[in-house]
Amino acid sequence: MPGEADTLALGAAMVSHLLPGMVIWLEGDLGAGKTTLVRGLLRAAGETGAVKSPTYTLVEVHVVSGLNFYHFDFYRFNQAEEYLDAGLDEYFSGSGICLVEWPDKAAPYLPAADMQIELRLDADVPGEGRIARIAAASAKGRTCLAGVMSSGLARPA
Ligand SMILES: Nc1ncnc2c1ncn2[C@@H]1O[C@H](COP(=O)(O)OP(=O)(O)O)[C@@H](O)[C@H]1O
Ligand SMILES: [Mg+2]
Repeated sequence: MPGEADTLALGAAMVSHLLPGMVIWLEGDLGAGKTTLVRGLLRAAGETGAVKSPTYTLVEVHVVSGLNFYHFDFYRFNQAEEYLDAGLDEYFSGSGICLVEWPDKAAPYLPAADMQIELRLDADVPGEGRIARIAAASAKGRTCLAGVMSSGLARPA
């Protein structure tokens, strides 16, 4: 993905393939583009307001197009037990779509992912390039991934 617009476009391409209750993990270093991808996804879903990083709030809730989106960021956790203390399990038990940055910081307590997206810098592209690696981890995830691939923005590894 040569530039930010491409990461936004990948997020946008996912929207029509999301399924109720899906949990999507977004992995990769600071600045890899996790929040950018979520921003593209939420804008395409109809969010006209700001899509802020949940770094300080832990979760940002977006209700758009009749769907609930829960955007998490666990970067600030020092210990995974903080996930339990925050009482966030209920978000993962309904039909809302959960988008989780820094899921490894809440392991092993975090509910399992349907889909995992790993973002990293593309060493072959100077400056802005990113590589996204998408893996499905459930039937829902496989259905969604097949849809994203049909958009032409992703291909089998
Ligand atoms: N291809 C790209 N995809 C995503 N972000 C990019 C890209 N190229 C440059 N950027 C920039 O990198 C930064 C990514 O920030 P952000 O999405 O907040 O990352 P993260 O949430 O992973 O920490 C943004 O400033 C964005 O403009
Ligand atoms: Mg972020």
